[in-house]
Amino acid sequence: MKIGFFDSGIGGITVLNEALKMLPNEEYIYYADSINAPYGIKPKEVVKKYIYNVVQFLISKKVDVLVIACNTATSIAVRELRQVYDIPIIGMEPAVKYAVEHNKNKRILVTATDLTLKEEKFKNLVERVDSDSIVDSLALPKLVEYAEDFIFDKNKIVSYLRKQLEPFDLDKYGSIVLGCTHFPFYKSQFREIIPEHVKIVDGNVGTVRHLKDIMERSDKSFSSNRKLTFYYSGVKDEDNMILKKYLNILNLPEKTY
Ligand code: SIN
Repeated sequence: MKIGFFDSGIGGITVLNEALKMLPNEEYIYYADSINAPYGIKPKEVVKKYIYNVVQFLISKKVDVLVIACNTATSIAVRELRQVYDIPIIGMEPAVKYAVEHNKNKRILVTATDLTLKEEKFKNLVERVDSDSIVDSLALPKLVEYAEDFIFDKNKIVSYLRKQLEPFDLDKYGSIVLGCTHFPFYKSQFREIIPEHVKIVDGNVGTVRHLKDIMERSDKSFSSNRKLTFYYSGVKDEDNMILKKYLNILNLPEKTY
């Protein structure tokens, strides 16, 4: 099947990475809107225009199913896009529900972009699942920039995270939710700082399970030859160099929940 993936930039590669494990033989078209990244600090209406351009591009490539591998874009546009296009559209869900259900009397910290945390979709989700008021949130916009700029310098990232997490008494927390697809690139740096008992949770595997489920229910057949095509803001990356570079560092040290 032809699966379209898109993100403001390269964050969605952390989702694609899971898809390649679970659905290894499909045809993937990944679109990184790198020229317009980051989305998470821009006005909603501007970001919505970017999203429509990308989706239109992927529809013109005749994808059978679309994965919005970006929490910010999902928050802003998933519902609307489903009304406009008639292919299945899968969005990201920050794993807040999972974290609440698997929590043992501890607090939960949801990290994401400013825009995701401000959106109704997130507020409604928290309202629905957080009956004990245990969910806190924190925007980490710099992590998006670092990932886009391929900055993986351990000291730099750890020092940024330490500063941002300083106001939180991490012993009181049971889970940290990575509510932006760029953040799983930095799981090992989170792990450096947060206590062992705190789980690091993201929605990537859940999203790919949902994708697989939708594909199984479709009348189209699964493919047998993996194909990967990578575009950055409409330009084809002929040798998939960008994609390979990022997939290479996704040798994640711990299980993705
Ligand atoms: C961003 O572009 O600011 C990050 C997008 C995301 O939420 O994954």
